[in-house]
Amino acid sequence: MDTSTVMMILAFVAAYFVWFRSVTRTLKGPKGPKLWPVVGSLPGLIENTSRMHEWIADNLRACSGTYQTCIFAIPFLARKQGLVTVTCDPKNLEHILKVRFDNYPKGPTWQAVFHDLLGQGIFNSDGDTWLFQRKTAALEFTTRTLRQAMARWVSRAIKNRFCPILETAQLEGKPVDLQDLLLRLTFDNICGLAFGKDPQTLSPGLPENSFASAFDRATEASLQRFILPEFIWKFKKWLRLGMELSLSHSLKHVDDYMTDVINTRKLELVSQQSGGSQHDDLLSRFMKKRESYTDKFLQHVALNFILAGRDTSSVALSWFFWLVTLNPKVEEKILIEICSILMETRGCDTSKWLDDPLVFEEVDRLIYVKAALSETLRLYPSVPEDSKHVIADDVLPDGTFVPAGSNITYSIYSAGRMKYIWGDDCLEFKPERWLSEDGKKFEPIDQFQFVAFNAGPRICLGKDLAYLQMKSIAAAVLLRHRLVLAAEHKVEQKCH
Ligand code: HEM
Repeated sequence: MDTSTVMMILAFVAAYFVWFRSVTRTLKGPKGPKLWPVVGSLPGLIENTSRMHEWIADNLRACSGTYQTCIFAIPFLARKQGLVTVTCDPKNLEHILKVRFDNYPKGPTWQAVFHDLLGQGIFNSDGDTWLFQRKTAALEFTTRTLRQAMARWVSRAIKNRFCPILETAQLEGKPVDLQDLLLRLTFDNICGLAFGKDPQTLSPGLPENSFASAFDRATEASLQRFILPEFIWKFKKWLRLGMELSLSHSLKHVDDYMTDVINTRKLELVSQQSGGSQHDDLLSRFMKKRESYTDKFLQHVALNFILAGRDTSSVALSWFFWLVTLNPKVEEKILIEICSILMETRGCDTSKWLDDPLVFEEVDRLIYVKAALSETLRLYPSVPEDSKHVIADDVLPDGTFVPAGSNITYSIYSAGRMKYIWGDDCLEFKPERWLSEDGKKFEPIDQFQFVAFNAGPRICLGKDLAYLQMKSIAAAVLLRHRLVLAAEHKVEQKCH
């Protein structure tokens, strides 16, 4: 190699390091994850894959709630698409999720990744497309009839399938995979609510359900796309390789299933007009609103709701039951609450307590159970991290500059675990923190402090339904069984 080439390489390296130093200096949070030349924060990310949420929380604790990093420290990328601002500060969250809502959409990466499965459904759209669906759906979510529909689907599944399966396991002295049972139960519920058909994935013998499996595989494969640069997964899609091939098969299956559901429902709605049976699911509600909705649009409406309301409740319930086994005093208080309500509504004959699951009015009175579920979601939110895209340069309330084109990750997991937000006992499981001093009233906490259901205009639409469903299931299980963790079973978060 001649001298001039060597000099040129050295000049490049020197210029890179000058640039690299200037980048690291301008990033917020010097105590955040270490930034390496070229590979940025990737080494830290890889090293901490198995404890990702704890790692982010550690970094946020060290940086008073906000830090910036870049996945790759490469000129032109590092200050734009490659720059990530990570925060859990309630003031910043209010700014991103409400005050400057229009400046922080989900963004193009999200939409591209989920487009094949969710289309431009409520969960996967921004701007006017999102607003229209939000308004239409929000009207439905305030109706009493939708709450009644959820109560009906949940009660039926608890009574006819969930309780018998648990009872058999108890009689046979066999352990159960509670998370799997809950996942099946909430999948059945949300399908009932979304399109009026319970696929009964929760049944004795736990049968494999091809729609549920195809939906699972499609979600998993879509999520995999996040790891790869867009042009790579698009190229793989074009060549029909690996996960992309599996995704296209799963999508075809989901599509066939939903087409069948929609066609059947259309026929039923016609017969309903001439006196046939009534339907109160979301799909029928959308169909009755306007006849011009295309089948694809209706399919995406249903699929978006299934994705939104499926794993979220079952994961929260799994953590809840685990936390209850670790906190017998909480379990006792829950039982006292359920029993005192049943004593009032069904009398002293305890055999009547187990005849049927709690009805809506009984569930509504479960204040302590609601507090324990909220406390669970504070410590173990079903959506631990979420992200937004930055449209125009902005400054967050804590002074952090966020450039256009960059991304913001807001850590819901960390937001529930900061001393400066929740106090010194923030890592303890204390349902009491959600109750008034006399313990009689549930006291909601500011939505930007407790973000497990998101906040602002995009706050979870199914929050009340989720509480209704989770309280019914929690009461049904704890009234009948005392749960114990199976020997040698390790409880851990799935981070990838
Ligand atoms: C414990 C249970 C649940 C939790 C923790 C939860 C949490 C969340 C979160 C964090 C979001 C924001 C996601 C994002 O924008 O990236 C969200 C959105 C949403 N959730 Fe839930 N959810 C739960 C149950 C449900 C249920 C049962 C339904 C439906 C019946 C539902 C319907 C929705 C919908 C439609 C959205 C999208 C709202 C929008 O973008 O305007 N959720 N939920």
